[in-house]
Amino acid sequence: MSKAKTTLPGTTDRRITALVTLLAENATIVISGARIAREIGVSRSTVWRWVQRLRELGVRAKGHPRTGYFLEKVPDLLTPDMLKTRLKGSLFGKHIHHFLKIDSTNRVAMELGYADEPEGAVVIAEEQTAGRGRAGRTWHSERGTGIYVTLLLRPKISPVQAPLLTMMAGLSARSAIQAQTDLFLDLKWPNDLMLGGRKLGGILTEMHAEPTQVRFVSVGIGLNVNQEKFPAEVTSFATSLRAQTGRTHSRMEVLVRLLREFENDYNRFLREGAATVTERFEAVSSYARGKCVSVSNGMENYSGVTAGLSPEGLLRVKRDAGETVTVIAGDVKEAS
Ligand code: BTN
Repeated sequence: MSKAKTTLPGTTDRRITALVTLLAENATIVISGARIAREIGVSRSTVWRWVQRLRELGVRAKGHPRTGYFLEKVPDLLTPDMLKTRLKGSLFGKHIHHFLKIDSTNRVAMELGYADEPEGAVVIAEEQTAGRGRAGRTWHSERGTGIYVTLLLRPKISPVQAPLLTMMAGLSARSAIQAQTDLFLDLKWPNDLMLGGRKLGGILTEMHAEPTQVRFVSVGIGLNVNQEKFPAEVTSFATSLRAQTGRTHSRMEVLVRLLREFENDYNRFLREGAATVTERFEAVSSYARGKCVSVSNGMENYSGVTAGLSPEGLLRVKRDAGETVTVIAGDVKEAS
């Protein structure tokens, strides 16, 4: 397999990242437009255009072409340079594709997967215009407030084991959020990250596989970090770390923790097998056992009580009618 690094259209221009780094390294000091233009190799008018663009992303850059520019505050952008520094030696610190705006990081990661991009590639966006959610839903991805990231993996597992990666990602997110906030996420099978009874994030795993062997998997993770409000259609059940803790959080810190936890969990899963995921999931998810739920799978709706996970990570439900069934796909809700 070729290990070529793929560059995609729309990836953030490295020189914008260089502009942010230059301003951040000289925070609060005014740097002339001419010096910036010289150091990053663009015209002064391009510097001005990019400063405007960065402002739209919430970067507090002051000044204008005549006076020069400075940063009021070091920005919380998820730039590849800063991320690579924080992730030295990690599986996820090598191939980072960053977008200021993209339709969906999962879509991009799938494309990279087909183009032989190596395992560990990371796709991040500051904003998604068509973020993909489970069951064909849209994932609301407001600019600069949440984490929208997809990890490309090439595990040597069978396709039936792939859903375990969704649950594993939930466990990694749980550990990362706990380290960041001391709060404990609940995990709603298979992919919902819950906090205070509301949805804090979700995971969407997509794959390309042969009948017995996975070729590649894209694990997409969306986390609500600093959102203050949500669109009307999700506002009654969505939440963010900011809403739950009353303060803003560094997306960079949360993302670094998440990727480190994910790498540990992934290596453990590959080394020790599925039980490392299913047993931990059962231990921390209030939904895994003894929860009264209603299930809708597109063909029928039924209610019952959850009865643990199968070895492949599927949810068992003891139906009110008596038999215990395995939920392969479908929406599971706490019965009211
Ligand atoms: C869900 O709960 O419905 C899953 C949501 C997954 C959203 C993330 S955001 C990053 C990645 N890119 C996408 O288009 N979707 C996932």
